[in-house]
Formats: sequence, C-alpha cells, structure tokens
Amino acid sequence: MKAWRAVRHGQPEDALELAEVPRPEPGAGQLLVRVRAAAANFPDYLLCLGTYQARPALPFTPGVELCGEVVAAGPDVTGFAAGDRVIGAAVFPAGAFAEYAVMHAARSFPAPAGLDDAEAAPFLVTYQTGWFGLHRKARLQAGETLLVHAAAGGVGSGAVQLGKAAGARVIGVVGGPSKVALARELGADVVIDRSAQDVVAVVKEVTAGKGADVVYDPVGGDSFRKSTKCIAFEGRIVVVGFASGDIPQAALNHALVKNYDILGLHWGLYEQLRPDLIRACQRELTGLVAAGQIRPLVTERLPLSGVPDGLRRLGAGMTTGRLVFQP
Ligand SMILES: NC(=O)c1ccc[n+]([C@@H]2O[C@H](COP(=O)([O-])OP(=O)(O)OC[C@H]3O[C@@H](n4cnc5c(N)ncnc54)[C@H](OP(=O)(O)O)[C@@H]3O)[C@@H](O)[C@H]2O)c1
Repeated sequence: MKAWRAVRHGQPEDALELAEVPRPEPGAGQLLVRVRAAAANFPDYLLCLGTYQARPALPFTPGVELCGEVVAAGPDVTGFAAGDRVIGAAVFPAGAFAEYAVMHAARSFPAPAGLDDAEAAPFLVTYQTGWFGLHRKARLQAGETLLVHAAAGGVGSGAVQLGKAAGARVIGVVGGPSKVALARELGADVVIDRSAQDVVAVVKEVTAGKGADVVYDPVGGDSFRKSTKCIAFEGRIVVVGFASGDIPQAALNHALVKNYDILGLHWGLYEQLRPDLIRACQRELTGLVAAGQIRPLVTERLPLSGVPDGLRRLGAGMTTGRLVFQP
C-alpha cells in the first residue's frame, strides 16, 4: 500500500516520503481500516517537526484522525463488521496518511450518517475537544459571551458552532480579511480581524465593558495575553493549544485580582481516563449533527499526494476550516 512516512524531522516537505509499504496488521483490540478520508490536524505538523508532546520513533506514518472502512479486526474485537464506516484516531506507527491504517476498536465510533467521508474524518477531535472545553471545563451557559481565537481554523471553527448551539453569543477572532467571511458563515455574531483591529478594545466595546465570559484559546502567546485583558468577572479561559508556538506564562496575581479561571484542557486524557464521558459526549454530538446544529467545515478535499503541502500551509496558519486527504 501507499503511505507517507516521516523519515526524519523537519518541515513536512523535507520530513515526509511517499513509500510502498506492507499493509499493517491489526493487533489485540485493534481494527484494520481502509482510509476513506484523513483529516489534517495541527499535531500532524508538529509530529513532522518532532516537537509534539508524543515523539514516535522514525519512520512512522502521521495522520492522527480519520474516517475508515473496517477491513479486519484483531482476534478479541467484537461489535464491528467488515464494511462498517468508523471514525477515530489512528494508532502509530500506522497513521492515517496512507491507504490503510490501524485504529483502537474501543476508541472508534460509527461515522454519523449525515456526514460524508470527508466531513466525518475531522469530526471526532474537533468537536469532542470543543465540547469538553466549553461544557465540561468552562460550563458555558446560554446567553454568555464566548470568545474563540483562530475561529476560522480547525478546533476554533468547531467551538464557534458549539457555542452557538449552546445559545452563547460568539465573538470570533481571525487573522486576516479572507477569514472574516468564513467565521461569519460558521455563525460568529461578531468577527474581529486581529491583523487590523484591536481585539481587546472590540471585545470590551461589544460587551459594554464587561468582557467575554468564556475564552477558547488554541493559539496561546499574544492571544492569551489579550484574553486576560478582556475577560469578564468570573470568566473562564480554556487553554486549548499553542498554535502560535508561544507558550505564555500566566500571572496568577492577575487571575486573583480580576477573579477569572484558567482551565487547561487535554482531550486525549479523557480518552484514556474517562471513556464513559467520551461516549456520552459523542452521543450528544451525533444528535447535534442530526439536528443540523454542527457540521465540519471542510474547505479542501485533497488527494493523498497533497499531504506535505497541506501540512505546511496548516502549520503556517494559511488554511481555513478543515483539510482532508482522500486516498
Ligand atoms: N487541548 C487539546 O486537547 C487539543 C485538541 C486538539 C487540538 N489542540 C491544539 O489546538 C491547536 C489548533 O489546532 P488546529 O488543528 O485546529 O489548527 P488551526 O486552528 O487550523 O490552525 C492554527 C491557527 O492558529 C492561528 N495562529 C495564530 N498565530 C499563529 C502562528 N504564529 N502560526 C500559526 N498559526 C497561528 C491561525 O489562525 P488565525 O490566523 O485566524 O488567527 C491558524 O489558522 C493546536 O495547537 C493543537 O495542538 C488541542
């Protein structure tokens, strides 16, 4: 089968080689799937660089998330049949940027019927992360103001939709005029272009000086620092990621004086420690898809050959919505 393999660390074009490799075998508790669509996620870019928190041994096939069709199951796996359409994470070293991949059966879910393969591939991580961040951690309430950084990006676009579905007023922050329309299309009530506008001033202006009740921050750096300047009394800042590459330091005296919470979110730990919550969340999310309230915004459907360039553009902040590769 064809598979992209990271053979060294570096920018995706330098790190990745397209190779002909043997089809992987499913081990205990695993599924072998034919990849119908693989989503690009920021961690895939970091995995190429070798700067992600997990550092698989070289060579490995990146691609953390996919929609696949079950081909075979490990000896102890029940509840899946050949041909089932499933979504979930790929198990390294047999990642999703390939014709076949391996998934954990216990962490795979049926692909929602209302989504095609390309829409289903980026469904799990984006919306689960958004749901845990906004509901489990920040306890977002209807009528509150939610500020989403990188609102036209991967996890940000999901948070905008989930915020609207929860009855919040959503302010989206984007970097550049080309992303403004997209954030509006996703449902943001107010969109701030950080390249041209003062984020803090606009948030204060549209909230009559009160600030945002909840901030969803996949960016870090300046985005976090600005959030602390426009967070409301009893506000909650959810720390989702550091796409800017800048991990900011929190001034705890400031959090005390302004009376706000800083909430760390690591969705993968829920997968390991609270699979019950993951399953309950997935039932809710599937219901929201059926009700037409959330839907992944797939902006590019690319062939497998597009992986290195797609990841490079994702890492450089040049993409919007979700990029999906279809072998
Ligand atoms: N905590 C968790 O459990 C969890 C789960 C999933 C993902 N994440 C993290 O969430 C982050 C976002 O992932 P994603 O796949 O959704 O990416 P993405 O949002 O599609 O891309 C990152 C976005 O960040 C913004 N950005 C601001 N400064 C940037 C800079 N200096 N360089 C690059 N981008 C910059 C850009 O949007 P604008 O230009 O519009 O600002 C860019 O589009 C990653 O750090 C990822 O690891 C965390």
